[in-house]
Parts: sequence; C-alpha cells; structure tokens
Amino acid sequence: MKTVRHFKSLLDINRKEFLRIIERAITLKNDSKNNVTHNIFNNKTMAMIFKKNSTRTRVAFETAMSKMGGHAIFLSSDTTQMSRGENISDTGKVLSGMVDIILIRTHNHNEVVELAKHSSVPVINGLTEKFHPCQLLADMQTFYEEKGNFEDKKIAWVGDGCNMCNSYINAAKLLNFQLKISTPSGCEPDKKTLSLASDNVELCDLPGKAVEDCDLVTTDVWTSMGDESDVEKRKQLFRGFQINQHLFDKAKHDAIFMHCLPAYRGEEVESDVIDGKRSRVWQQAQNRLFTSQALIEFLLNESE
Ligand code: CP
Ligand code: NVA
Repeated sequence: MKTVRHFKSLLDINRKEFLRIIERAITLKNDSKNNVTHNIFNNKTMAMIFKKNSTRTRVAFETAMSKMGGHAIFLSSDTTQMSRGENISDTGKVLSGMVDIILIRTHNHNEVVELAKHSSVPVINGLTEKFHPCQLLADMQTFYEEKGNFEDKKIAWVGDGCNMCNSYINAAKLLNFQLKISTPSGCEPDKKTLSLASDNVELCDLPGKAVEDCDLVTTDVWTSMGDESDVEKRKQLFRGFQINQHLFDKAKHDAIFMHCLPAYRGEEVESDVIDGKRSRVWQQAQNRLFTSQALIEFLLNESE
C-alpha cells in the first residue's frame, strides 16, 4: 500500500530525516552554484494554497518546482471556491486527485491536519498560527553551514512565543541543542509543544539571560499575521525584548543573528544587528529555496 508522508510540523520527521534534508539542501545549493540541474520533478505539479500573504515561501516553493522540471499552481483563498465555503477536506480530495503534492498556509493549524487526512498526496505546512516548519529547515541549514553541528550548541529565542518559536522548540528536541526562550509574560510558546521538549528548552524571564553565551540569537515580529488587532498593545508589551547591539553583545563573540523575515527594523531588531557582520538573514532566506527542493524530493520519494 502507498504510504503518504506529510510535513504538518517538524515532528512528522525524525532526526535522521531532518539531517538528510539539510544535507541534501546543501548539495542542491552547490549544484546550483555549479549550474548542475536536476529534472526529477518532471511532470509533477504542486498546488499551493495561500490564505495568508507570503513572499519567501511562495517564491521558494514555486522556484523549487520549476528548477527541478515541475510546475506549481498558486491558489489564493479569495479566488478559489474556498472563498464560497468549500471545505478543506473536499478541497483536499479534489486537489490530490490531480496534483502530486500540496502546500498550505492558513490561519488554522487544524485545517492542515484535516487536509492531510483527506489528501492522497503529501501535504506541507507553509505556516500556520502554530508552526512554521519549512522555515526551520532553512534556519537549521544555515546554522549547520555556520557552526557545523547542533549537539553542544545554545540558541536564544527572544520575543514572541509564536509559530516560529514553537518550531524552534520542535527543532531543539530533534537536533538536541539547548534552546533558551525569553518572552513577555502571557506570550509564552505552546504548552504542549514545550512539554515534549523539556530536556532541551529553558524559559528565562530576562532576554539577557537567554542570550548569555549562546551561538545564535533569533527572533521574529512582535505581531504575527492574524494578531494585528493588538499591534499597539504588543509594541508596549515587547519593549525590552528588542535585539539590539547591547543585547547581542551578551552572546558568544562569534554568535550569529537570524530572523525568518519580514522584519520590522526598530521594533524586534535594530538595523545595526540585522545589517551587521554577524547577521545571516540573507543566507537564511536564500536557503528557503534549497530546503524547499530537498523537502519536496524527500516527501515524494518517501511516499512512493
Ligand atoms: N519567512 C517567511 O515565511 O516569509 P514569507 O511570509 O514571505 O513567506
Ligand atoms: N510569525 C510570523 C512569521 C512570518 C513568516 C507570522 O506568522 O506572521
């Protein structure tokens, strides 16, 4: 019987598979530099459902498909029958009868779970309010390129306990690094996700305590898509959680900075950090392409 592998969160893959995807992404990156092409998605089609905006995720996956001989179809929620209320399980049954793989970005993580349940082809979570696993593939590729391993490393998350933070917790458990998280009170990450990674994660009241002696400092916007009604309140709440040079100086002297982007300069990060020598945000963004190629290849191979 055909097995179908989905990527709803990082917990759908194991440590070995995570490392395999990262290593393949690095190979594909080198191949791209050397103009070595692959046509392994020949005649394959990806449907990409976007119920929230995107720059990187859309371009990375669409380019990943075309670079490897396949095709991607962009489906926005307001120009498809989803806008009239066609539900996600019916949509999943119909799409998976025609395409080879489906990506979805949506406000409700349960929709990804439901779509995967009713799809006969792999489903990729392109971001929900709960997780952003595709971004973590690129972040971990970047970290691996820079630091060479994960085991004895410390990573600091400062800011909102959002989808990105939850996915960092999943990554800490899988790759066995230490993750220190500092968020304002009331903005902590998902409790269940935390409980599954208790050996690898520590919550710190003070951002300085999280950043101390770490190899990577990372953050995200203070207001994620869907939380916009609270923007002004959140700006007050997150004051003191900004990554500026003073805070970054508490990390190891060779620590790097990452941000999944888009960033709001002057809010969660100061320009001198994001544009500084130890920022790796552009490398991290570019790695979205190679990890997307590697992920699609992995899911298609594992589902055959
Ligand atoms: N980091 C990220 O997922 O960016 P987009 O929202 O532009 O896809
Ligand atoms: N936490 C952010 C990530 C954007 C890529 C959001 O959900 O809006």
